[in-house]
Amino acid sequence: MTGILYGVGVGPGAPDLVTVRAVAVLRRAPVIAAPRPAAGGTSLALRIARAAAGEVAGQETLELTFPMTRDPEARRTARAAAVEAIRSRLDDGKDVAFVTEGDPLVYSTFLDLLASSAAVDGRVVVVPGVSSITAVAAAARVPLADGDDALAVLPAPRALGDLPRLVAGFETLVLLKAGRHLAALRDALAAAGLLERAWVVAEASRPGERIARLADHVDVPPGYFTAVIVRTRAPEAR
Ligand SMILES: C[S@@+](CC[C@H](N)C(=O)[O-])C[C@H]1O[C@@H](n2cnc3c(N)ncnc32)[C@H](O)[C@@H]1O
Repeated sequence: MTGILYGVGVGPGAPDLVTVRAVAVLRRAPVIAAPRPAAGGTSLALRIARAAAGEVAGQETLELTFPMTRDPEARRTARAAAVEAIRSRLDDGKDVAFVTEGDPLVYSTFLDLLASSAAVDGRVVVVPGVSSITAVAAAARVPLADGDDALAVLPAPRALGDLPRLVAGFETLVLLKAGRHLAALRDALAAAGLLERAWVVAEASRPGERIARLADHVDVPPGYFTAVIVRTRAPEAR
């Protein structure tokens, strides 16, 4: 019997936002696999998982390097090495819990593994996690969708190229990967008359959590874990 590959979402950072199901899988899996951005670096997802589920005696920790690069060859090589390492554990009949920050199906390295599921060749189970999408909305107390609202989630650079269409088509925009684009977003949203309707949230649910209107985002350092939420229309009277 080959093992099961679990994609386990561990939420946005706060250990008590890891689900009960995720903790159960993390405690019983003989192998915890965790993505890290560079060899020798640390995996944030693994730190969250450990804070929620603790250390389990005899459990193997498999840290897998997924370099943050657009170079397809470097990504392919890293993915092949990760798949091979996971596959050998599954072939030994061991379940592997691959942890990802937030939800495993939202802009996650787990998708690299799913794309290679033919290579992994076993059963795959996804354990959903609290995504940054809902975590940043909760931090800013901004409604994501009400009535027949439409919600768009996309990377900030893509939104910058398509703002008029997005504003016309969606009541809420959640812009991820926004850290390096705050100044450009502020200019574009000001030009669209939406600056007062935009919030920036960094490190939601973590000790360094920061929330500000984009209009005065100077207090929010432009780190990697930063998202912007825009409500494109005034709320309807209820
Ligand atoms: C590669 S995506 C990972 C998304 C993740 N799988 C999820 O479901 O939230 C990384 C982006 O998610 C957003 N993000 C993740 N965690 C966050 C947090 N705690 N606070 C604010 N934004 C966060 C940031 O925009 C960051 O650039």
